[in-house]
Amino acid sequence: MDTGVPRPTGGKQNPQIAAKYEGIYGVLLARAVAILRSPGMNDPVQAFFRLRNALQAAWAVVTLSTDGAAIDEADLDRRSAAFEQGPYAWSERGQRVESTNLGFAEARSRILLAVTHAYMPADCDAVLDLGCGWGHRLFELWVNGGPRDAAYWGGDRAPAALETIRRVAALFPGMKVAPFPFDFLRPDFTAVTGQPKSILIYTFLAVEQVFRLGSGLFDALVARFPDAVITCVHLEPVAFQAHPDDPAWDADRRYAEKHRYNIDLYAQVAAHPRLKILALDEGLMDEGGGNSLSALVWRHTPAHSGAQN
Ligand SMILES: C[S@@+](CC[C@H](N)C(=O)[O-])C[C@H]1O[C@@H](n2cnc3c(N)ncnc32)[C@H](O)[C@@H]1O
Repeated sequence: MDTGVPRPTGGKQNPQIAAKYEGIYGVLLARAVAILRSPGMNDPVQAFFRLRNALQAAWAVVTLSTDGAAIDEADLDRRSAAFEQGPYAWSERGQRVESTNLGFAEARSRILLAVTHAYMPADCDAVLDLGCGWGHRLFELWVNGGPRDAAYWGGDRAPAALETIRRVAALFPGMKVAPFPFDFLRPDFTAVTGQPKSILIYTFLAVEQVFRLGSGLFDALVARFPDAVITCVHLEPVAFQAHPDDPAWDADRRYAEKHRYNIDLYAQVAAHPRLKILALDEGLMDEGGGNSLSALVWRHTPAHSGAQN
């Protein structure tokens, strides 16, 4: 019997991750509030990108800070500006790119936008970003031609991240966007209201954080949206999981083991009776440290539609 209480999935995760993100998003929320109140924020798109760049840089400063000292606002500003212009290199489909940290963040956005647009259903009426952080990728999708009438939902565990989404949403009154509390280990979509029929879901470096996902995420989606076509794009370090014996992905395998990052996303999707894998696009981006980005795309088609999944 469905009691309405989200059930644990049997998944596993390093318990310190929740505390780590709560701390980071607390800093980002304070920063977002200050920036949104600052002068010169009249053009919403410009304001959004100013905010996005500032929060991206602040994220890096906070996460890379090794001195353990509290970072005050002025310090954060100074270090963020220096960080943005710092040199950074990575590869895209094997091609080396030399740029800056800001260029790297923009390349990530470009890659996610390309994949989500490629798989965006023409009739999409809901977009879900799971493990969305402060939701910047939802807003970027909206600014870059995402469906105008769809409802945009950002799910994350960190309350400060959800509050930031609420604040940033004020920039885009025409966008139907809302946060919802979401945990990969207890996936519950009852807060996602309405009965969408064609849903685009994506995750961006979020499932990676969950050592074992189990099948609960997919079961919960199918149970909540039984009549919807669901198209899901995972931008995650998943290629090593699809090629367990291929030494080309050894660095990714070692990285996941060392950090207790996800090891079962590919297997869970491949084994799920209601999902069909549409694509695995490998090695989209690689920083060389063993956390390369690939796209795993799957679709769920309602059982009664007569269509083959
Ligand atoms: C590396 S960040 C990526 C955030 C965002 N997807 C992006 O691209 O900027 C990982 C995100 O996963 C979220 N996360 C980690 N474990 C989670 C869990 N069990 N349930 C929901 N979100 C989780 C964190 O709160 C964080 O926002």
